[in-house]
Amino acid sequence: MGLKRLDKLIAVNCNVSRKDARKLIKDAAVSVNGRVVLRAEELIDVEVDDVAVKGYNFTIKGHVYIMLNKPQGVVSATRDPAKKTVVDIIPDELRRKSIFPAGRLDRDTTGLLIITDDGAFAHRIMSPAHHVYKTYEAVLSFPIDENDIKKLEAGITLGDGTECLPAKVKAFTKDRLPAAEIKIREGKYHQVKRMFHALGNNVEQLRRVQIGSLKLDTSLAEGECRELTDEELELVFIDE
Ligand code: URA
Repeated sequence: MGLKRLDKLIAVNCNVSRKDARKLIKDAAVSVNGRVVLRAEELIDVEVDDVAVKGYNFTIKGHVYIMLNKPQGVVSATRDPAKKTVVDIIPDELRRKSIFPAGRLDRDTTGLLIITDDGAFAHRIMSPAHHVYKTYEAVLSFPIDENDIKKLEAGITLGDGTECLPAKVKAFTKDRLPAAEIKIREGKYHQVKRMFHALGNNVEQLRRVQIGSLKLDTSLAEGECRELTDEELELVFIDE
């Protein structure tokens, strides 16, 4: 985790604004390794330094990484004036001020979404340059054939001329309905739905089941979440 500014660390760990964190420091309520520190910009080594804040049960937490089984009907945003967001449904004990979804799933898409306060991690997951494949299960209106699979695997062109990177695709049936498992490493708007539309098909249900090699924990009901373990975090960036 490395070095962190004292005021930022206090804001995150005491769940207060950066301004309130600076006030706590100015009011001599903060000590580092037993010594009162009055400089908000003091750099703290979160692995070694011992920080105490008067009136707060302060334990240094690094970034938080939460696996959510996203239910239908919530939007992949931090806040929304009208609709419930994925951040709204995170329980208080896991919530931090600065958490956000690392990527977007449509309102009607379910499944694996990581909620974090780590911007660099989120960028690494989302940027196509980092080759993190996301695996979806799509229930379709019609079965796909070898020709469809070839087109998707070659990199299909969407109705508006947008070109997609090559996907990895397998056909299967889900509860006797035609379905496909599709792996993509970009996140264009409604991408999976539009890829199947380009084949004259239609996605009836969409669920994300995997990011990199990290699989959705099937013991999580829709709407439930839990923190990722360090081992699971590493799986995100490991190819299958
Ligand atoms: N592709 C879609 O069409 N929707 C999603 O939610 C994710 C990928």
